[in-house]
Amino acid sequence: MDRVDAKIESVCAGLTERGWAIVPDFLDGGICQDLVANIRTLQQQGLMHPAGIGRGEQLQVDASVRSDLIYWIDEAKLTPPQELALSHLHALQLALNRSLFLGLRSVEAHLTLYRPGGAYAKHVDNFQGTSARVLSCIIYLTPDYHHADGGQLRLYQAETAADVEIEIAPRGGTLACFLSATVPHEVLTSHRERYSLTAWFRR
Ligand code: OGA
Ligand code: MN
Repeated sequence: MDRVDAKIESVCAGLTERGWAIVPDFLDGGICQDLVANIRTLQQQGLMHPAGIGRGEQLQVDASVRSDLIYWIDEAKLTPPQELALSHLHALQLALNRSLFLGLRSVEAHLTLYRPGGAYAKHVDNFQGTSARVLSCIIYLTPDYHHADGGQLRLYQAETAADVEIEIAPRGGTLACFLSATVPHEVLTSHRERYSLTAWFRR
């Protein structure tokens, strides 16, 4: 089994056994760096916008719930590093469909920036039946991450929604993924710029 297969295998096992998985070094440093540069450019161009909560006409911006800035990736105008990152996610999608029959059909993704003080309160990405999101994937991009930088992704146990399951360091290159309908999670306050690419696979 080569390295890529081993990574994908570990995602399948994690999702089956506990509903989440972490892959350190999912994306290499060069691509992460290019995506961070991409986000900085978008921010300078005024294209990173406060993220909303809810759907459709109910969409609201509430910085006390979430204070990240996002840019929805447009498949019609991908930059080279965006294309590379999406191709890695696509390989994962195919493997998960083959092994777990998840029936993942499409992806929606945004680039994400939390500035110092930014956070996202506890939530679930897909309340049962409200959207087609099946799997949430976050690829972290921040270089030289240290624990004191904060911004950890905290997952809660699906059954109680109160007990902490794990805290994931948003270290550049790491992929975190979890089932969108069942895993409550939050982003702890970040103390520096925190960069990521967030994607959802839909049915
Ligand atoms: C989200 C989210 C987690 C993270 O965007 O819905 O929960 O670690 N992101 O960025
Ligand atoms: Mn979320």
